[in-house]
Amino acid sequence: MKAFITGGAGFIGSNLADRLLETGTEVTVYDNFSTGQDKFIRHNINNPKYTLISADVLDKNTLISAMSGNDVVFHFQANADVRGGIHNTRIDVEQNITGTHNVLEAMRVNNIKKIAFASSAVVYGEPEIIPTPENIPLIQTSLYGASKISAESLIQAYCEYFDMKSYIFRFVSFMGPRYTHGVIFDFMKKLKEDPTKLHILGDGKQRKSYLHVSDGISAILLAMKKSDKKTNILNLGNSEWINVTDLAYIVCENLGLKKVKFSFAGGIRGWKGDTPFVHLDISKISALGWKPDYSVKDTIIDTVKYLSENDDLLGAR
Ligand SMILES: NC(=O)c1ccc[n+]([C@@H]2O[C@H](COP(=O)([O-])OP(=O)(O)OC[C@H]3O[C@@H](n4cnc5c(N)ncnc54)[C@H](O)[C@@H]3O)[C@@H](O)[C@H]2O)c1
Repeated sequence: MKAFITGGAGFIGSNLADRLLETGTEVTVYDNFSTGQDKFIRHNINNPKYTLISADVLDKNTLISAMSGNDVVFHFQANADVRGGIHNTRIDVEQNITGTHNVLEAMRVNNIKKIAFASSAVVYGEPEIIPTPENIPLIQTSLYGASKISAESLIQAYCEYFDMKSYIFRFVSFMGPRYTHGVIFDFMKKLKEDPTKLHILGDGKQRKSYLHVSDGISAILLAMKKSDKKTNILNLGNSEWINVTDLAYIVCENLGLKKVKFSFAGGIRGWKGDTPFVHLDISKISALGWKPDYSVKDTIIDTVKYLSENDDLLGAR
């Protein structure tokens, strides 16, 4: 099998590339390194089964010729910054909607019939049902969420028109090796500057579920083997959740920091568009025989360990 990964030099895409190579799959990574890191892909450069194309998904002609000869596309490129849309109202539209349209066009031209897409729990906005199942009405609370649901819709229409099959994964926040953005990243960056205090967005009571990237990738690959509809939409998350203040305590404890003074910005959301309680119903993916190996606490601890050992990354974003 030949797999094409957009965003394959990023946090999740590079972990996926490694896992696919381990199982003998030929991998082409297509990435413009806007947030992707050379250190995440360097070890694969001399692998004959690995090809790197440094280019932009918005460059449609390059994308079309790069994708030729592949069997499946993992579309993991995006503007993955969930907060940025309020300051730059074009970025999610360009990167996540136009980017996805270019990927689908390149698939159509190259006659590639299978796509896996990295969507997000953010598409649920502030859901009334928790744990949140896949089939509830959706009201968007952020441009990032709006762009992800638009991209999902484009994928569904292409599946209908051009006999493609899609796997749309709505993730909670992933953590683990190569994590480069999100709550632990922000906390560790602040604590590196001043280990005596930590300013927390919102009131610290926001409840969130987290998934280890290795569990997430296992779920994606299992679903693509076992689920066979034209459009397969699956939540990926953990059965547990944690509040942000408790997460901050675990981070400080694992950094060996005692008596860090917490302050809170206040309000039930960390930022406009933030979801105060993220907890997905994972019965659909569980019914396929998947369960996570890492608890939320172990996921947090593994992430702190990784970032402590790779603290150069704290300056990368
Ligand atoms: N990290 C999470 O917790 C999480 C949660 C839900 C959904 N997602 C989605 O999963 C995917 C991967 O996220 P991530 O956390 O690995 O983010 P990331 O920023 O580490 O990875 C994105 C990759 O895409 C590349 N990229 C961005 N714009 C590009 C462009 N125009 N052309 C080519 N390459 C481009 C970046 O260089 C980077 O390597 C994204 O689609 C994101 O929205 C992530």
